[in-house]
Amino acid sequence: IKKIGVLTSGGDAPGMNAAIRAVVRSCAYHGVGCAGIFRGYQGLIENDIEDLDARSVRNIISRGGTFLKSARSNEFKTPEGRKKAYDNLKAAGVDALIVIGGDGTFTGGLLFEKEHDFPVVGIPATIDNDISGTDFTIGYDTALNTVVEAIDKIRDTASSHNRLFLVEVMGRDAGAIALNSGIGAGAEEILIPEEDEGIDRLISSLKKSEKSGKTSSIIVVAEGDKSGKNIFELAEFIDSTLGGYDIRVSVLGHIQRGGSPSCFDRVLASKLGVGAVDAVLDGKRNIMIGIHHQKVITVSLETGIKGEDKFDRDLRRVADITSI
Ligand code: F6P
Repeated sequence: IKKIGVLTSGGDAPGMNAAIRAVVRSCAYHGVGCAGIFRGYQGLIENDIEDLDARSVRNIISRGGTFLKSARSNEFKTPEGRKKAYDNLKAAGVDALIVIGGDGTFTGGLLFEKEHDFPVVGIPATIDNDISGTDFTIGYDTALNTVVEAIDKIRDTASSHNRLFLVEVMGRDAGAIALNSGIGAGAEEILIPEEDEGIDRLISSLKKSEKSGKTSSIIVVAEGDKSGKNIFELAEFIDSTLGGYDIRVSVLGHIQRGGSPSCFDRVLASKLGVGAVDAVLDGKRNIMIGIHHQKVITVSLETGIKGEDKFDRDLRRVADITSI
C-alpha cells in the first residue's frame, strides 16, 4: 500500500475531524501517503482530492463537523458514478480507502469494494450510535451531552412555569439518543422508534405524574417515534385529551450534530483512526473498525450495516423506575 484515501460521508458527527487527523498522522507514522477526499463520495466522483500530511491536520481535533466536508451522493449509488470514483482513485495513486460515516457510507463502500475489488475500511461515525459491531460510534457521546444540556435548560423553564414540554431529538430509526438523554435529563416519558408503547400509556403516565405531585414534565420524543403523530400533533392530542396543561414544543434539530467533540469522542476517534490504518496495512478489507470493551476490533462491513440491533431494552425499565 503506497497511498490511503480518506473521506467523510453522510451526516457529520463531532469527532470526525479527530478521526481524519488520526488516519493522516498514522499514515505519516508508517511512511504511507494519504489523500484527503473532499465532500464524500460526491467529491470522489468529481475528483476533489488533495494530498495531506501530518501538518495538514493541525488544530482540528477540537473542531466539530468535518474539514473534509460531507455529502450524501446519489451519483455514487449508480455503477457509472462508482466507476468514475474508481478511475479518480487510481489516477491519484490511491490503493485503499478509509470511509468515515454511518450505514449509508458503509453500504456505498461495500458495493464499491465488491464491484472494483478495491480495499475499503470503515470507521463508524454518526450521532445515532446505530451501527452494529461497535459499542460506540464517533459523535454519539458529544451529541448526548449536547441534548442533556439543552433539556436541563428547558427543565428550568418547565419547572418555573409548571409547563409540559415535548422535546424532539434526532433519531429517525434509532432511539439511543432519546432513551439515554431522557434518562440522563430525568424525562418523565420517552418515545422511541424501536417500541410502540402506544399513546394511551403516555396519557396514563401523565395522569400518574400529576397525581404524584409533579408540577412540570418533560417528554423526550425521537424524530422517528411510532406514535403516528408528529410532535406538534402529539402536543395537540395531549391538550385535547387531558386539558389543563400549559404545553410547549421544542425541536432541538441540528444543534445536536455540531460542537466541539467530547474527550471520549476524541479518544475514540483517535483509536479507530489508528486502527483503520493498521487494518489497511495488515491487508484487511471489507471491514469496519469498532470498539468493544475498550478494545479496537474489526468486523465485516455487512455486520456494521445489518448486524444485531443494539437497542438496550433494559433502559426502558430504568427510565420507568427512575421517573416514578
Ligand atoms: O444520521 C444522523 C442524523 O442526524 C439523524 O439523527 C437524523 O435523522 C438525520 O441525520 C438528519 O439528516 P439531515 O441532516 O440530512 O436532515
